[in-house]
This record gives sequence, structure tokens and C-alpha cells, in this order.
Amino acid sequence: MFTKRIACIGAGYVGGPTMAMIAMKCPQYKVIVADLNKARIDAWQTDSLPIYEPGLLDVVQAARGRNLFFTTDIAGAIREAEIIFVSVNTPTKTFGEGAGRAADLQYWEKVAREILRESTSPKIVIEKSTLPVKTAQTMETILNAKGDGVHFEVISNPEFLAEGTAVKDLLEPDRVLIGSRETPEGLKARQEIVDIYANWVPAERIVTSNVWSAELSKLVANAFLAQRISSINSISALCEKTEANVREVAHAVGMDSRVGSRFLNASVGFGGSCFKKDILNLVYICESYGLHEVARYWESVITMNEYQEQRFVRAMIRAMFNTIVDKRIALFGFSFKADTSDTRESPAIFVARKLMEERARVVITDPKAIENARHDLEGAPVEYAEDPYQAARGAHAVAIMTEWEEYRTLDWGKIYGSMEKPAFLFDGRNILDHKGLYELGFNVYPLGSPAYRHF
Ligand code: UDX
Ligand code: UDX
Repeated sequence: MFTKRIACIGAGYVGGPTMAMIAMKCPQYKVIVADLNKARIDAWQTDSLPIYEPGLLDVVQAARGRNLFFTTDIAGAIREAEIIFVSVNTPTKTFGEGAGRAADLQYWEKVAREILRESTSPKIVIEKSTLPVKTAQTMETILNAKGDGVHFEVISNPEFLAEGTAVKDLLEPDRVLIGSRETPEGLKARQEIVDIYANWVPAERIVTSNVWSAELSKLVANAFLAQRISSINSISALCEKTEANVREVAHAVGMDSRVGSRFLNASVGFGGSCFKKDILNLVYICESYGLHEVARYWESVITMNEYQEQRFVRAMIRAMFNTIVDKRIALFGFSFKADTSDTRESPAIFVARKLMEERARVVITDPKAIENARHDLEGAPVEYAEDPYQAARGAHAVAIMTEWEEYRTLDWGKIYGSMEKPAFLFDGRNILDHKGLYELGFNVYPLGSPAYRHF
């Protein structure tokens, strides 16, 4: 009764929401999401999903059990489906050649071999994970190595969803990119994938290209986004030395329609599972082709991000009279951005560790990410508090690490009243009313504009 059977291997931040959306929008297809992590698969079957993503539960509930299924039987899913999305993780290598820069493709390759082992009919295999350029070629070589007549087409369909807005990004994507080989079989496979998205995405937003362009576009899109943040963060440092205000500068610059206003918020630094990993990947690729200047150019985006994180901690120490030994410091927010529980590469991890090195007493509060924070900082002498008021009680300083909406509307007068004096506030996301807080009694340190101090 189903017109297509689609499998996805990897039920993470990308695979889970993407398949749920396809299943909701296309009741005529059977969608099977498979993952080797049983706890994760079990959680997808309940109403407490393994990832926090606004609006996702409604999408899952609309299709689960109807045409959306979750399983740990990866082999079974491969056998049943004619279209297989692969969205397993591709972290930065931690060992051997290219350690710290190249992508670790071991999971991807394992999956490719499993697809090869289990397939008795032709399959379209889709790269959903971000991969180095030309991975599709390697995968095709592995898949077509058996020479028993089963044909595989590898398609690159990179994911552009951002965490926290995944459902909206999937519902109304800026674009869907589908890359294939330009052979008759490649073009036919490409069309099959176009047909899936055409169920809800307007035709003009479905872009097709050759497979290398699709792979590279994903890395470049993330590199460009991260580069904007590093650019404005570099200017935040200059603003702090002058009378300029980085928010005013970003506003004026962003109003130029050629520049655009988004992704120009200065911050303690960008985090997340993609930006750093993808830029490192880009750098590694450039180097492997001998393009050293190009590699250095993109590497500087990461260097600037690290500088910004260090600068933030240094500014805290300096403001608090050059010592924070035994001072209680509350970090408000630990996730790498608002509306997600994800803490991968969160600048808060770096800040918390540095503050502990200086022997401060660190307290962490976050509406969604405390569990992940505990994991990231395992064994460290950190206090965790669900309640931000409790976190701030008796603290010398509060530092905003994540732009959670609820931090804007806290009773800051009450927080000030419960803190040690002088009370410091470091706004790593520039989300608070700095002048208002100063008037309440705080010494306020925004990013990219002069501090408001009572001394
Ligand atoms: C992943 C990649 O990290 C990223 O490069 C890509 O852009 C999209 O896919 P994400 O979904 O956030 O991102 O990763 P993660 O949440 O770690 O999910 C990957 C899942 O794959 C995990 O649930 C893991 O258990 C599963 N997996 C991994 C397998 O099922 N089999 C494997 O061999 C390896
Ligand atoms: C990113 C891309 O946006 C998405 O298209 C891709 O598929 C995956 O990587 P994500 O990492 O989920 O998505 O979040 P994003 O919203 O891009 O934010 C990344 C980081 O940049 C966060 O730490 C965020 O707080 C920070 N940021 C963002 C800023 O510091 N300033 C800004 O103006 C915007």
C-alpha cells in the first residue's frame, strides 16, 4: 500500500526530525528510522523524545505508527527500503592522520558496508550527514565493489536545519539541495529524491547540482555563517576599546541589503556540532589540495572564535579585581544556543573550565541542558541548579551564556538582592537591558560596548 519505502540510519538531531517531517507530509511513504542506540530508539517511541526541539512532538505524533516507525533493526530497514538516508555522526577525527581536523568516517563506512551486505535490490543511498567533498565517490566505490549486479546511486542531500528551529526549517526550508551524478541513472535517482520533497516544498526552492557541489555547499554555508559571527565578534573587541557600540554597528551594517541583518549578534562565541567541525573539514580539504592560503583564511574564523571565548573569561577576571578564587559564579545557560538541550561545542564548556582553573566556584543553571552539562563536566566540582534564582544566591557574578528568552524577564532586582556585593553581570549574549540592570545596582559588562560600573 505504500508507494515508497524510505529508511534512515541514525536517529539523531538530523535523522529524527527530518524523517518525522517526511512521514508527516507524505503518508503514502513508509519511513523507517533505524539506530544502533536502543535507548534512543525507545525514546522516539514515547512522548519524551530523545532530543528537545520545539514542535517536534506534534510532527512525530502525526505519523508515528501510521507510516513512521523506529527500530534498532538496521539490517531489516536496509532490506525493506529502496531509498536509504544515512545520517550517522561524522565527528572530527581524534586520532591518526588529520586528527583534530579531518572528519572521522568510520561510522559512515560501516553503514555503507552494511548496506552492501544486506541489499539484494537496487538502492538510492543519500548522504545526510555532512561529509568531506568527494565522499560520495568513495561510498559509490565501496557499494559497487561486489559486482553482483545490485546497483547503488549515491546522492548528496545536505541538511540545513538549525537546532531549536528544526521543525520550521524543515517545513519551510530556504532551499533543499540535491546533488547527484549527471549520468542517466544519477539523474533518475535525483528526481526520485526531488519527488519526495516536492510533496511540500515549492519547486523553485528545490535546487539540484552535481554531487560535489552539493557536498561542498554544505561546508561553505556553515563556514559563511560562522564567518559572520567571527567578523562581528572581532569588531566587538574593537568597540570595547572605543566609544562604539557593537549592537549599533551591527544594526547599521546589517541594514545594507547586500550584507543583511541576520547572524550579526556578537556573542561569547559560536558553538554547536557543525560550525567548527565543518570549517575544520574545509581547512583540511584545502590543505590536502595544497591551497594553504585558503586554508589559513578559513581557519582564522575558528581562531577568532577561540579568542572571543578567552577574551570573555579574561574580562571577567579583570573586572573582579584580578582574582576569582573561591568566588561563586553563576552561569546562566549551558546549551550552545537557546531552545535546545544540545551542548556540543558550547562556549559555556570552555568558560566553565577556565573559571574552575582559576578556582572559582561554578554554578550552572539551564532550562534544558543540565543533564548534558553534567555529562560534559563529569567529575568537575560544579553545582547545578534548576532554578536561576537559587543559582545566583550568594554569587559574586552572573554570566549569561545562552540567550534563553526567560532570562530577559527574570526578576533581576530579586537576583541582585540575593548576591554578594559588588555584584557583577557579564552578558555573553547581549540580551539584557544593561542600563536598567546598572540602575538596579549591578556592575554590567556587555559585549562590544562600555561597561556600566559603580566604581
Ligand atoms: C549527524 C552528523 O553529526 C552531522 O555531521 C550531520 O550533518 C548530520 O548527522 P546529528 O544527527 O546531530 O548529526 O548526530 P547524532 O545526534 O549524533 O546522531 C547520529 C546517530 O547515528 C546516533 O543516534 C547514533 O547512535 C547513530 N549511529 C551512529 C548508528 O546508528 N550507527 C552507527 O554506526 C553510528
Ligand atoms: C547551523 C546552521 O545554521 C545550519 O544551517 C546547519 O544545518 C547546522 O549548523 P546550528 O548549529 O543548529 O545550525 O545553530 P545556529 O543557529 O547556526 O547557531 C550556531 C552558533 O552560532 C550558536 O552557538 C549561536 O548562539 C551562535 N550565533 C548565531 C551567534 O553567536 N551569533 C549570531 O548572530 C547567530
